[in-house]
Amino acid sequence: MTHRLVVLGATGLVGRTMLELIEARGFPTARPRLLASDRSAGRTMPWAGSRLPVEPVDEASFAGATVALFAGGNDVSRRWAPVARAAGAVVIDNSSAFRYDDDVPLVVPEINGDLLAARPTLIANPNCSTIAIVMALAPLLRGRRLTRIWTSTYQSVSGAGSSAVERLEEGLRATLAGKPAARGDGPPFADNVVPHIDRFEDNGYTREEMKIVWESRKILGVPDLAVSATAVRVPVRVGHSASVTAWFDPPLGPDEARREWATFPGLRVVDDPAESRYPMPMDAAGLDDVLVGRARVDLADPDALTFFVASDNLRKGAALNAVQIAEQWAARASGQPSVAP
Ligand SMILES: NC(=O)c1ccc[n+]([C@@H]2O[C@H](COP(=O)([O-])OP(=O)(O)OC[C@H]3O[C@@H](n4cnc5c(N)ncnc54)[C@H](OP(=O)(O)O)[C@@H]3O)[C@@H](O)[C@H]2O)c1
Repeated sequence: MTHRLVVLGATGLVGRTMLELIEARGFPTARPRLLASDRSAGRTMPWAGSRLPVEPVDEASFAGATVALFAGGNDVSRRWAPVARAAGAVVIDNSSAFRYDDDVPLVVPEINGDLLAARPTLIANPNCSTIAIVMALAPLLRGRRLTRIWTSTYQSVSGAGSSAVERLEEGLRATLAGKPAARGDGPPFADNVVPHIDRFEDNGYTREEMKIVWESRKILGVPDLAVSATAVRVPVRVGHSASVTAWFDPPLGPDEARREWATFPGLRVVDDPAESRYPMPMDAAGLDDVLVGRARVDLADPDALTFFVASDNLRKGAALNAVQIAEQWAARASGQPSVAP
């Protein structure tokens, strides 16, 4: 079966990465329809050796669509998801607009792809840091309870979209020229580390930090999981990292963790400190796998396991995960039981 695919937000960082992956992975579609805002009218994007036009989204954009990948932000998703679903498309949404709705599955195919068996017509793609963290935790849950996580993230600037990357690059040029980076809407990204992503909530945590709390619980199916997160923007173009300390009952050690990680699809163990091999965003950028390493017994609590993850936020953190969901959804639609993520 060939799908009539629509990509909303096709000109953005996630949208462009989705297009690349759809083509490279051979998702069954002949010619995707590319949508963005009025600002992109007249633009074209590369596809299969030629170029496709980008159209401003409107009420007729989803007519005949079977699969719609959304990467336009929360307001865009809220406005257009009902229109796409009414037209008969399944919507796979990268924004956080629907992630916390009880009737919307929040899917990482390697972990809870079985939720697609219920044929949902709106599926949420999780937060980019959360995906990497739960990918490393999920294989450790076999035969154990996860009770608590403490994490600090080191998130790249591409996580904030194309305009943020331009701001980073301008700031880097300025600082190299001996000038201060301009502040813009918030603190500069260049030559800086910013413990503020998304808005502050009343509890003193940012929305980005609360996404990690709410989404880890939902994806891992542990509603009472204790989670505390600090989310930090670092001057890296692509690749999010996180330090994670996790408590399991019964506890597990680093050797056992590495054994479980080694066989889990989508994870790659990089853990040889003596050879300076550990997960880093510059190695994760461009890769599909989430890198995991620096596994060690926590010094402050020997019952806890501490480790480090790095992943490409535009790929597994967003576009790849969404395309994997589309692949699994399409395989089930054509009667195949499932495909490997
Ligand atoms: N970047 C990441 O690492 C990441 C990870 C996980 C999830 N996400 C989520 O993915 C979504 C896209 O992020 P991004 O980083 O790709 O952002 P981006 O680079 O800023 O791209 C935004 C896209 O949305 C389109 N858009 C904006 N306003 C629109 C409107 N009113 N109508 C139609 N299209 C509109 C833009 O089109 P124009 O070019 O025409 O303006 C562009 O194609 C966001 O919800 C983000 O939270 C991002």
